[in-house]
Amino acid sequence: MLVPEHIETLESYQPGKSIESLHQESGLTEIYKLGSNENPLGPSPKAVEAIQKNLNQIFRYPDTKALELRQALARKFQVKLENCIVGNGSEGIMSAIMGTFLHDKDEVLTSSCTFTGFFVLTQARGVKLNTVPLKNYRFDLEGIAAAITPNTKIIFLCNPNNPTGTIFTKKEFESFIKKVPEGTLIILDEAYAEFALENPNFPDSMSYRLDNCITLRTFSKLYGLAGMRVGYGFAHEDLIKYILKVKLPFEPGVLSQTAALAALEDQKFIKETLQVVQEGKKFLILSFQNLGLQVLPSEANFVTLILKNEEEVNRFYERLLKKGIITRPLKNFGLKEGLRITIGKQEENFKCAEALQEISKA
Ligand SMILES: Cc1ncc(COP(=O)(O)O)c(C=O)c1O
Repeated sequence: MLVPEHIETLESYQPGKSIESLHQESGLTEIYKLGSNENPLGPSPKAVEAIQKNLNQIFRYPDTKALELRQALARKFQVKLENCIVGNGSEGIMSAIMGTFLHDKDEVLTSSCTFTGFFVLTQARGVKLNTVPLKNYRFDLEGIAAAITPNTKIIFLCNPNNPTGTIFTKKEFESFIKKVPEGTLIILDEAYAEFALENPNFPDSMSYRLDNCITLRTFSKLYGLAGMRVGYGFAHEDLIKYILKVKLPFEPGVLSQTAALAALEDQKFIKETLQVVQEGKKFLILSFQNLGLQVLPSEANFVTLILKNEEEVNRFYERLLKKGIITRPLKNFGLKEGLRITIGKQEENFKCAEALQEISKA
């Protein structure tokens, strides 16, 4: 055996279908990709401009400290530079966190039906994973607190949760953190936080100062830079110091750092994105409800349908694909009856609602 059993049996991350693969399979040229929670408006124009200006810098290694980007983040979120980390996507930072803190008998704890990337990283470390079922399609923080064992080293919380789009509330979070021992780390994955901040019940982790909590956010969603792979995180400086020992030194790349820095200041694009997502969400939810479909309340840039069973999910998914619309069946996330649809531009949402109307009538 070349590899340990936990690697032999590891199922790697399953991404959503790409435009290229659907084009090759079907010959379709008009394709709407609503399967990967990307920004419907494309990239931040300021980021594109910055990348173009800096193309001739790619012969250089990136700044290992990512000083300018971290300074900008520290200013924006009013924390010290030492509290701030950037990496190859928030998933890259998550990977470094797992590599830094987990060993031997450590266990990790989270909900079922959450971000699958975390499950892959956990199994790759060969540590024990404990999960608590969702309650009403939401993280059950009481259940998670009750499932903490003396070996629980990391608790993973995702708010808003991917793939349900639901949130746990301030009240639930504040009661939860009192029950978490000091030596247990909380990873608070807030990849979709910006879409939820207007909700007064959303616990913005940046308004708490918790010594055992690491906030993770990303440039992949709101800022439209999924392909550049830039994520960022905030935590107590001691935690950041340890994670930096493990994180690859030259991530994110030169152009990724430049793009993120510019996108952070692109207020016009940020505003437009939030508006398109909020309007699109209202439209899609109403359209789906009018068709008699069950749709979960979403605080993210996607909506999730709960269908009768896995067969119905597959039928909807395949029929939508035939019409050039890529969505995401949620079996891999542990939600067999779920189909996730990323909020697109107005015409994409319209096409999707129209297609679902035809399919659900058939
Ligand atoms: C909840 C959640 N966390 C993390 C990620 C990974 O984001 P990044 O592109 O920053 O690695 C995603 C991507 O879809 C996500 O949904």
